Amino acid sequence: MPPRRDDPSSPAASSAPRAPDEPALPGQVVVEAGEPVEAYWRRRLAQHTGDWYAGLRLQKFPEDLRVYEHLLWAANPDAVIELGSHRGGSTLWFRDRLAALSRYRPGPARRVVAVSEDVGPANEGVALRDSAWHDSITFVEGDVLDPALPELVAAALPDGASCLVVEDTAHRYDTTLSALNGFARFVKPGGFFVVEDAVVDLDALSPAAHGGGGVLAAVTDWLAGDGGAGFAQRRELELYGLTSSPYGWLQRRLP
Ligand SMILES: C[S@@+](CC[C@H](N)C(=O)[O-])C[C@H]1O[C@@H](n2cnc3c(N)ncnc32)[C@H](O)[C@@H]1O
Repeated sequence: MPPRRDDPSSPAASSAPRAPDEPALPGQVVVEAGEPVEAYWRRRLAQHTGDWYAGLRLQKFPEDLRVYEHLLWAANPDAVIELGSHRGGSTLWFRDRLAALSRYRPGPARRVVAVSEDVGPANEGVALRDSAWHDSITFVEGDVLDPALPELVAAALPDGASCLVVEDTAHRYDTTLSALNGFARFVKPGGFFVVEDAVVDLDALSPAAHGGGGVLAAVTDWLAGDGGAGFAQRRELELYGLTSSPYGWLQRRLP
């Protein structure tokens, strides 16, 4: 039987071009009454690596995306610097949130600068969805460990741009510290730097197969040093109880 066109899980419901590996919906998480919360957490964790935005891979919890919406509204940034863009779903999501922000708070054009060691898949995915992507997105290819990278990103931004920075690269001590050292300067007072996925360091919550680790130690060490002196760790921004980024929601203090 051909798929029904009004079924949202059916590919035929959309005439938009489909990415090669695009299924219709992420796998469902079923809540089992009385089970340990860790079991529920692990199913959510598995689901979040298989989720989508506009048909492109997006590896974030819906709860964290809601927190980002609050932060974007509160800080009203000119740009998002995304470190680690994978397949482009998160790049496009941040771009679309900035576009919504511009609708309610008109001003200079807002932009996402998406950085990755290999920007090809993200650029390809974004271009598949929006042929005019370059009006609002810049891809910068590079290693977050490279001390020259922040200057390449600065060149893609208007002078003095206030940015939300999202670190989502390799989730290791060295990459996290390098991201914080290199990119905190783009966050203005009241703005946010989010270090994602410190769950890799929490035994009870860590994804079993993850090869990274050291995110939490890097955040702690950085906050204790000169670079992090102007920042506060905002644990109360873990608003919805479930976050992939515990200890990672950082805000530059107002003077
Ligand atoms: C977890 S994925 C990003 C997921 C994406 N932000 C999302 O929410 O869907 C990590 C990305 O960081 C990139 N990456 C890993 N190590 C990196 C490094 N040292 N420098 C720059 N990018 C890196 C990977 O190639 C990959 O694209």
